[in-house]
Amino acid sequence: MALVLYRKYRPKSFNELVGQEHIVTTLTNALAANRVGHAYLFAGPRGTGKTTVARLLAKAVVCEESGDRGQGTGYRGQGAGFTEACNVCIHCAAILEGKHPDLVEIDAASNRGIDEIRQLKESVRVAPMQARMKIYIIDETHMLTEPAFNALLKTIEEPPAHALFILATTEINKVPATIQSRTQRFDFKTIPLPQIVGRLGTIVAAEQVKVSLEALELIAQTADGSIRDAESMLEQVLAFSQGAIGAQETIAILGLADTALVQAIAEALSKKDSGKAIAIINDAVSRGVDALHLTAGLASYLRDILLLSIDPKLKELLLRRASTTYVDTAQKHANAFLPEELTTMIPQIIDALELAKRSPVPQLPLELALITIMQKHPVSFNEK
Ligand SMILES: Nc1ncnc2c1ncn2[C@@H]1O[C@H](COP(=O)(O)OP(=O)(O)OP(=O)(O)O)[C@@H](O)[C@H]1O
Ligand SMILES: [Mg+2]
Ligand SMILES: [Zn+2]
Repeated sequence: MALVLYRKYRPKSFNELVGQEHIVTTLTNALAANRVGHAYLFAGPRGTGKTTVARLLAKAVVCEESGDRGQGTGYRGQGAGFTEACNVCIHCAAILEGKHPDLVEIDAASNRGIDEIRQLKESVRVAPMQARMKIYIIDETHMLTEPAFNALLKTIEEPPAHALFILATTEINKVPATIQSRTQRFDFKTIPLPQIVGRLGTIVAAEQVKVSLEALELIAQTADGSIRDAESMLEQVLAFSQGAIGAQETIAILGLADTALVQAIAEALSKKDSGKAIAIINDAVSRGVDALHLTAGLASYLRDILLLSIDPKLKELLLRRASTTYVDTAQKHANAFLPEELTTMIPQIIDALELAKRSPVPQLPLELALITIMQKHPVSFNEK
């Protein structure tokens, strides 16, 4: 693979974007009505499309096909109803290559933006070189220093008509209220598991490789709502193996806690069979499964069971990040444990995780925790 997957498959149009429907609708409506604002703030978790949407918006604003609008020179069409950039005109091409002179991308994380914002203050007054607008995308906005924020604030308070600012951040609470109130804010959401699986499926088909649905679900579940993370993991899996890829390869390559394994341990626990639980753990460790991963996996699985046993409505929530097979088994286990059992077990396993980092035998703390749990709750476990 010549290109990193997540760059290669960065959506080139709004309709290729997965999730974030509310944002796409609002932005395309603004584009169609030629009412794009001057300052946007894109907030939300990593790898969910903030930079992607910022570039899509930039491209749609400067695309040659976006309408003449009485400005003349180079711009074609009526403008009304225009929402998707053509991806071929000189402006689109330059943006796709990352070299449009009127699109400035600033990474506030690199040197906290001091020089960049100073330069921005100067350059924003000057007319665009080639396009009708000058666009500034500021990534990791929350990393700007206070002087940089102040300089930026002055600029976005009175932006020249040709300027468009798109600020992106993963930490909205670190962006000053003064900046927030002068921008139009969009909250990006984590992407639900089925949609991540769908996207991975498209990529797998385009790359002409064979990866099982179960493997894609595992990847999506581990990515925890971030498409970029999912695509990076898929890339890792593809790089490591030839031929068809299934769940087992994926678990091994990514060093994941095997959910089937974790569920088997929970099954043994629900039947109060500590001997079996310990046998499963040791068998796994002897096959090279990381005991720390396994302990962490069990803790997070018990948490999922706890959620389900508290309120069945939380099932919907779980289905956003986990596959149906996983949730069905978890539901079965939720019926097999009492919430009190889970609330006493979980802290003990978390303690075991801490101990495991210092233990000469990494699976020992987990084994001890399970034995202690069984000794403390013999009756309720037996009654089940
Ligand atoms: N909503 C999405 N639909 C399709 N692909 C996406 C989406 N979000 C992210 N991706 C994929 O992940 C990559 C990274 O996305 P992007 O740079 O837009 O994330 P981000 O939200 O800006 O993350 P960060 O906060 O880490 O900067 C994209 O190139 C694309 O391959
Ligand atoms: Mg980004
Ligand atoms: Zn174009």
